[in-house]
Amino acid sequence: MADVSLDNVFKTFGKTEVIHGISCDIQDGEFIVILGPSGCGKSTLLRMIAGLETITKGDVSIDGTVVNRLEPADRDVAMVFQNYALYPHMTVFKNMAYGLKIRKMPKAEIKRRVEDAARILEITEFLDRKPKQLSGGQRQRVAMGRCIVREPKIFLFDEPLSNLDAKLRVQMRLEIRKLQETLKITSIYVTHDQVEAMTLGDRMIVMDNGYAAQIGTPLDVYERPATRFVAGFIGSPAMNFLTAVVSADGRQVHLHRDISLTLQNGGLPGHGGQKIIMGVRPEHFVLGQAADAMLHLDLDHVEILGSDTLAYGHLGQDKTQVTLRLPSVYHFKKNTVLHLDIPSKNLHFFNTDTGQRIEMQA
Ligand SMILES: Nc1ncnc2c1ncn2[C@@H]1O[C@H](COP(=O)(O)OP(=O)(O)OP(=O)(O)O)[C@@H](O)[C@H]1O
Ligand SMILES: [Mg+2]
Repeated sequence: MADVSLDNVFKTFGKTEVIHGISCDIQDGEFIVILGPSGCGKSTLLRMIAGLETITKGDVSIDGTVVNRLEPADRDVAMVFQNYALYPHMTVFKNMAYGLKIRKMPKAEIKRRVEDAARILEITEFLDRKPKQLSGGQRQRVAMGRCIVREPKIFLFDEPLSNLDAKLRVQMRLEIRKLQETLKITSIYVTHDQVEAMTLGDRMIVMDNGYAAQIGTPLDVYERPATRFVAGFIGSPAMNFLTAVVSADGRQVHLHRDISLTLQNGGLPGHGGQKIIMGVRPEHFVLGQAADAMLHLDLDHVEILGSDTLAYGHLGQDKTQVTLRLPSVYHFKKNTVLHLDIPSKNLHFFNTDTGQRIEMQA
């Protein structure tokens, strides 16, 4: 068990800087997810923690000791990759034992560790099989077993589930979370899948192009996204973004010239007259009464998912496209007008130029 600290970490490949100064203190036993789109620097950051990439600037510390110059083997970390390549000619037992054998660990200790890990992972009955006699999920468990037997201070995962089908991913996701709760080993997990990040992480680092756009619990990130990028990345269907102008007193926002919303319980004083971006999650619209609803949406298309309904429509003269998620099965006819309200606490505002969140004032 260990805590990990990233202190203003940078990475440059040749002349290109790809990590632009990331800091984060990861607590002992914490499960941290690094989330972001392809190419944003997730693997690079993880590999710097593992010791597989040099650190251009800044420090990585484990338990208070800077490890920048330590070899991967001396950092006491174990990493599970997307391509977890097991040795095909070795049994499951030998695959799991191999790393310990080359470290010249006594045979009895190797046996104990492999059997313990196999029990935790429920693969005891497969110890004599070869990898090709296992399903994808079972192979993935063997790959994790190889890490567990090392009894490392830290687990590092780089998209370990991306080779599995959707159903198995969900199952393995639960298993990884349970395993981590049992072993309480500090874990850092890279994914581009926001659902994985929301369900696995105690906290997540949302990366945007080599920057940490936000570090927080899944709920923090969902409820108070720090930037427009984070707001758009977390949530499915994605948040709706509408351009708006704040009224002089900050108590109203004007959308597309012909629609005005009065903000309840607060406003945006100090932003009077400014153009901003307003964000609303599809699940935060509520059906209102024709007479006093905030918005009137011309419905274009409906998708009934069973548990809920997605409705697509457009607003106002500018015909801004909006997606709604309504919490049950609604049968709407085409060309209907939906009257909608949005509780002000569910409105998000972002600076048009910087994308930074703007907080409503009471
Ligand atoms: N060895 C390298 N040399 C040069 N550029 C690199 C190298 N490794 C990564 N990069 C660049 O650094 C950036 C971050 O890459 P990284 O692999 O960390 O992204 P990622 O977030 O893990 O993406 P993915 O989700 O596709 O795995 C990319 O622009 C990539 O092209
Ligand atoms: Mg990667």
